[in-house]
Amino acid sequence: MIIPLLICGTLFLSLKFLLSARSKRLLAEEHDLKATSRKCSPAPRMAKKGFLGFGRLIESVKATNEGKGPQYVVSSINSEMGHDVHTVIVPIADYELITTRDPVNVQAMLATNSSDWDVGEARTASWQPLFGDGVFTSRGEEWKHSRALVRPQFTKDQINDLDLIERHVKPLFDAIDRNSLPTNEDGWTSVVDLQPLFYNMTMDITTELIYGYSVHSQNPDSRSVLPTLPGLAPPDRANIGIHMDAGKAWIETRGALWKYRWLLPTKQFNKHCAAVHAYAEWFVQLRLKRGDKYLEGIRQDTGQGSSSRYILLDELAKLTQDPVELRSQTLNILTAGRDTTAALIGWIFYFLARHPRVFNKLRDDCLREFGESPENIEFKSLRDNIPYMTSVINEALRMAPVIPLNERVAIRDTVLPRGGGLNGDEPMFVPQGQQVLIPTYAMTRREDLWGADVEEFKPERWEEGGGRKHGFEFIPFGGGVRQCLGQQFARTKAAYVVVRLLQKYDRIENAEDPADAPLKFHHTIENRSGSGVQVRLHEVQC
Ligand code: HEM
Ligand SMILES: *[C@@H]1O[C@H](CO)[C@@H](O)[C@H](O)[C@H]1NC(C)=O
Ligand SMILES: *[C@@H]1O[C@H](CO)[C@@H](O)[C@H](O)[C@H]1NC(C)=O
Ligand SMILES: *[C@@H]1O[C@H](CO)[C@@H](O)[C@H](O)[C@H]1NC(C)=O
Repeated sequence: MIIPLLICGTLFLSLKFLLSARSKRLLAEEHDLKATSRKCSPAPRMAKKGFLGFGRLIESVKATNEGKGPQYVVSSINSEMGHDVHTVIVPIADYELITTRDPVNVQAMLATNSSDWDVGEARTASWQPLFGDGVFTSRGEEWKHSRALVRPQFTKDQINDLDLIERHVKPLFDAIDRNSLPTNEDGWTSVVDLQPLFYNMTMDITTELIYGYSVHSQNPDSRSVLPTLPGLAPPDRANIGIHMDAGKAWIETRGALWKYRWLLPTKQFNKHCAAVHAYAEWFVQLRLKRGDKYLEGIRQDTGQGSSSRYILLDELAKLTQDPVELRSQTLNILTAGRDTTAALIGWIFYFLARHPRVFNKLRDDCLREFGESPENIEFKSLRDNIPYMTSVINEALRMAPVIPLNERVAIRDTVLPRGGGLNGDEPMFVPQGQQVLIPTYAMTRREDLWGADVEEFKPERWEEGGGRKHGFEFIPFGGGVRQCLGQQFARTKAAYVVVRLLQKYDRIENAEDPADAPLKFHHTIENRSGSGVQVRLHEVQC
């Protein structure tokens, strides 16, 4: 489908090229004058590729489809421009992109000079139909309003509700056990792909955190009977995940082809948007109807928790009663919090399975602190008492940042502190409207910043010298004014689930040789070569 789209776009563009060559030259001259008056020098420019400059777009769409988009940024800059070039201008068809893996520039855009920058309209307008206007999908004043509304929610300790997480870890264990059957003759269970299990678990946790009622994708039998709301169909708990995933997939395609978005059919997408809205709308209406009695109602409907629990929708409804706002803000947080955390937990196990030494050390530390049951795990000790856990999480985020690419657009003529001149250490001019790609992944792959072992998974690098001081070369949660609000919650959730799974499994001893295993029922986690987060769980009966 992408190729015919590109051909249509190309025909359209060839016409546009002929018409606009002259105005483009004038614009370039104007930019040169502005740059000179600001003592800026131009950044190096990558070569145009392919017919009319579409080559790079095609290459990057191809790399993205192979799940190697972030790697493509690194390999194309390294091979075409050199390892020590960090800021480049990338011409694509009739527009240009700046890409910078220089932390000094990234800091300027996200933090020190953030008033000159905003997220691109392409991003917010793409996501808006699915999730509405919220903190994630808005720009300018509207974003400021959203951020001020939801931010205080994330500074409250109650958001790190371990009981809530535990309620959904038990069904995760059941799902793992169910999926690891049958045990083979040699004592090993069949291969289990943990990743979809983590997605379901985070969906269950996040919907409960936000609305008070979990979708229970892991254990549909636990779904409570919901009250009836006149005129509203009950929320479709069985399919909400499917609608969100399908809507997001469509948005990603549309985002990649942003300039030609009008060529994409929208019927299916509209259906998914309507379903996602209807889902959230139901809880919003229930909250508006029940008012302060919402929590009490949840307790009665679900038979769970106390009526003093922390539910995001309930807290937001104390600040605004606008149903559209409540729907949009909660959906924004649902999307920001669900896939990201599931992917992080998946990557942690991907690396643990391949590094038995790290697995064992982390397991020893966790068991020393918490023993073998969930009872002793509490928020503060989880956060502070196992430094190796923090190192493992950081290292997983460094090797595989869950959001590997970010971007900003200059909202007025401005200057990036570096990238210009022969050595890339002079300021460069950036005209209003210019988009800049922030390849988070590429910054964590710079050998000059991280050392020769940059490609190795090595949690110890975070301990050396009593804790690495990191700045904008490590921004898995973004940075500056739009920094992730859920960072602490995501870290708590990941750490909790890791502790619980390490309690469930034995140390990895002689993974190749189950006969030497201790005399008891146990699971170990094996290293599985190839790509993708797939971990084989072994169950050995001796
Ligand atoms: C491993 C898990 C997570 C990662 C890697 C992550 C990463 C990020 C990043 C990179 C941004 C910044 C986007 C930008 O600069 O444009 C962001 C923003 C945000 N995140 Fe997270 N996030 C995670 C989990 C969560 C969770 C669990 C929640 C909420 C429950 C959450 C809520 C948000 C919100 C509301 C924003 C928007 C902030 C704004 O634009 O002002 N995130 N996240
Ligand atoms: C995840 O949840 C969905 C919805 O309940 C279910 O159909 C699917 O089987 C679950 N996935 C796994 C791997 O258990
Ligand atoms: C911030 O932007 C202004 C132009 O708006 C520029 O003069 C200044 O050098 C920039 N500062 C940094 C730290 O990037
Ligand atoms: C993990 O995989 C690597 C490479 O595939 C292999 O050399 C190593 O022995 C494996 N480790 C275990 C514990 O199986």
